Amino acid sequence: MDSLREGYAAVVLGASGALGRAFLLHLQADPRCSSVIGLSRSTDPALALEDESSMVRCAARLRQHAPVHLVVDATGALTIDGSGPEKRLEELDPVRLLRAMEINATGPLLAMKHLLPLLARNERVIWAKMSARVGSIEDNRKGGWYGYRASKAALNMLLQSAAIEIARQRPLAVVVALQPGTVRSRLSQPFVGDEGLSPEESARRLLDVMDRLSPHGRAHFVDHLGNSIPW
Ligand SMILES: NC(=O)c1ccc[n+]([C@@H]2O[C@H](COP(=O)([O-])OP(=O)(O)OC[C@H]3O[C@@H](n4cnc5c(N)ncnc54)[C@H](OP(=O)(O)O)[C@@H]3O)[C@@H](O)[C@H]2O)c1
Repeated sequence: MDSLREGYAAVVLGASGALGRAFLLHLQADPRCSSVIGLSRSTDPALALEDESSMVRCAARLRQHAPVHLVVDATGALTIDGSGPEKRLEELDPVRLLRAMEINATGPLLAMKHLLPLLARNERVIWAKMSARVGSIEDNRKGGWYGYRASKAALNMLLQSAAIEIARQRPLAVVVALQPGTVRSRLSQPFVGDEGLSPEESARRLLDVMDRLSPHGRAHFVDHLGNSIPW
């Protein structure tokens, strides 16, 4: 990451996932990155999106590692508690809809609430969250995937509000909602099989895109090619 200061510190959330692992490997290989910590449900401390106290423990652990210059949040789920995305209204289930919100929208913002104080001030920092193009309200032409789409749209709104607030104290901060492309992973496998980008290629492209984003007091919503997506 050439845009961050020499010796920058990074954190990857969801480091056990396909994209999370790929980000971790790229950052470990970057000579300009002095340290990168990966957190997930299987690390110690663990990060669970349903459990705010796990975020408090992670923030305490990361304090030795602060100031942090880059947070990549690669958590998220499409199949939740064994149920895939809904195709029709008749499949809607209130508990499942709320679980999608918890994992894809509110959990990630609570993680931001606890980790944000660790970000450096007065220098460039980046908070990057994996969103999805299907969370774009304007881009929705096919319908379906109610819970996943709605939770990513909610995530985008939460990130936008956070970006505006963060810019007041950290005017050099970049907050970005990212569309990684269709990427081979546990999440995408039931829907696209082995089609799609490798997680390594997607993460490489996304890091390159992040490197080129300017702080502008609001969140960006961009894909792995650097193209803006309508909210
Ligand atoms: N793959 C694609 O084609 C694609 C397309 C658009 C957007 N995205 C987005 O990219 C992100 C990463 O997806 P991926 O393809 O890398 O999927 P993945 O391999 O399934 O990774 C998902 C990650 O999220 C974590 N996670 C899920 N539920 C969690 C919870 N309740 N608490 C804490 N961590 C939780 C998983 O942890 P465990 O290992 O513990 O389960 C894993 O680290 C997601 O936000 C997804 O929506 C992916």
